[in-house]
Amino acid sequence: MASTLSLKGSRVLITGGLGFIGSNLAHRLVAEGARVVIYDACLDPYGWNEANLDGIWDQVEFVRGDVRDFASLSAQVRKADFIFHLAAQVGREISMSDPALDVSINCNGTLNLCEAIARYNRDCKVIYAGSRGQVGEPIYLPVDENHPMNPTDVYGANKLAAENYLFVYGRAFQFPVVSLRLNNVYGPRCQMHHGYYGILNWFLKNAMLGEPITVYGDGQQTRDYIYVDDVVDAFVRAALSPKTDGQAYFVGSGVETVFLDMVKTILRVVGKGEYVHVPFPPERERIDIRRFVVTYQRLERDTGWRPTVSLEDGVRRTFEYYRDRLPLYLEKKQARKRA
Ligand SMILES: NC(=O)c1ccc[n+]([C@@H]2O[C@H](COP(=O)([O-])OP(=O)(O)OC[C@H]3O[C@@H](n4cnc5c(N)ncnc54)[C@H](O)[C@@H]3O)[C@@H](O)[C@H]2O)c1
Repeated sequence: MASTLSLKGSRVLITGGLGFIGSNLAHRLVAEGARVVIYDACLDPYGWNEANLDGIWDQVEFVRGDVRDFASLSAQVRKADFIFHLAAQVGREISMSDPALDVSINCNGTLNLCEAIARYNRDCKVIYAGSRGQVGEPIYLPVDENHPMNPTDVYGANKLAAENYLFVYGRAFQFPVVSLRLNNVYGPRCQMHHGYYGILNWFLKNAMLGEPITVYGDGQQTRDYIYVDDVVDAFVRAALSPKTDGQAYFVGSGVETVFLDMVKTILRVVGKGEYVHVPFPPERERIDIRRFVVTYQRLERDTGWRPTVSLEDGVRRTFEYYRDRLPLYLEKKQARKRA
């Protein structure tokens, strides 16, 4: 495996790398001198966007492939030192209306990855994008890694299953795995097509276009919002530290933010817009949770990671990014085929 000091020169595979978090990670890894392969099936309604790799297309290899396609995935797994596994069905409501789709991508796709590594390349390290959705409604706050897992939706259940598959295979076939259970991530390069997920970005787009922001219920539910650059830094640190092998960590700001305050922050930064309260749609209320915030102490202990970007600053940076690029996120272009 590559040196534990730097990713420079390492061969890195990012599944879901044309999406929001994966593409931000790709920019960072290219800057670090890694040899980056982007593996993405370009599935809708997910966040793949050709514009996400603007500036680095010539420095990455793009493979249009599906994690459910064992042969195609294996061919890339064979060559990787580090595998950042981000490809997923990411819509929580979608997971309830089409659970079989969620199983096929999040479970079967991850099992494909496990099998490919076990057969062809046990010298790689896997960094998995887990989710706060694995936890469900917390029974204490802040949530830490000892908190029980009671997911409220199929997405959360399958993200947890996939995390377990990776740990099971990692133990059985002796390759290192780390899971980063991400909170509500926002920032540049997130899709702006719908509000199934990436709600902060969706609201930012609403405000920028003068569309009313719809707040379900009283807006007093809380979340832990984390800026994407901080998340990317967590991925890099988790990849490089041997202490993270076999471990799961929560990645969040550690700040419990009232939903309505997040909305007001957006309106303040954009300088226009409005919000309206609407009743919870039943399909949303069924899976919603009331309060959420994590402690990142364990990740800090093992990697030195700390969040560095406040909500106000992060929303401002996100607004700056989309100010000239919003049309690119309202109308997607076909991803170019490089392989
Ligand atoms: N954004 C968040 O707030 C958040 C929070 C918790 C966990 N996560 C996890 O982070 C990861 C990335 O999420 P994101 O926000 O960047 O989403 P995204 O929709 O922007 O990116 C997901 C990418 O995966 C690709 N993809 C989907 N199915 C695929 C398949 N079968 N094969 C290959 N590629 C496929 C999509 O085309 C898309 O480009 C996911 O695993 C998600 O569960 C995200």
